[in-house]
Amino acid sequence: MIFMAMDSLRIGSGYDIHKFLEIMLFENTAKKLYLGGVLIEGHIGVAAHSDGDVVLHSLTDALLGALSLPDIGVLYPDNLKSTKEISSIEIIKYAYGLVKEKGYRLVNADITIITQTPKISAYKEQMINSVSSVLNVDMSRINIKGKTKEGLDSVGKQKAIEAFSVCLISSE
Ligand code: CDP
Ligand code: ZN
Repeated sequence: MIFMAMDSLRIGSGYDIHKFLEIMLFENTAKKLYLGGVLIEGHIGVAAHSDGDVVLHSLTDALLGALSLPDIGVLYPDNLKSTKEISSIEIIKYAYGLVKEKGYRLVNADITIITQTPKISAYKEQMINSVSSVLNVDMSRINIKGKTKEGLDSVGKQKAIEAFSVCLISSE
């Protein structure tokens, strides 16, 4: 058995990236873009087994990582038919449930979305509202911000969107 130090504070970090769909494919499948559980109307979607929400996926891994729990890909393998098109809200609720089962709660999470589009500032409040209500925590505990990649590499060329999350959890 792995010894788990019973610290009252634990920190976690998570990362995720998803590829934007090609325009042709987008028209064929009409897959939508979800960020923090918010539907970004009219924006091209991403390739994913689930709904491909990079915000919720990176935050899920941060929450799990804070307690050294198995990561999102272990809990929800992308080759399972039963979880195809699963909502990332369901995934993060399950992960946060595991954290709460161990006696911890979220102190705060800071999330950075890196993408050329959409402009995150336009959706920031909506996303913070959405994530905090999914986790049932106060809005002041969640921060979300956007950053471009200044046109550099795959994210800068609008081929993908990525997110980094850091969270602090407490047992007190
Ligand atoms: O100014 P700097 O080069 O540091 O950053 P940037 O990537 O050009 O982004 C400038 C500002 O735009 C960010 O600080 C965010 O407030 C906002 N932004 C956003 O809301 N959504 C994005 N997808 C990218 C940037
Ligand atoms: Zn993902």
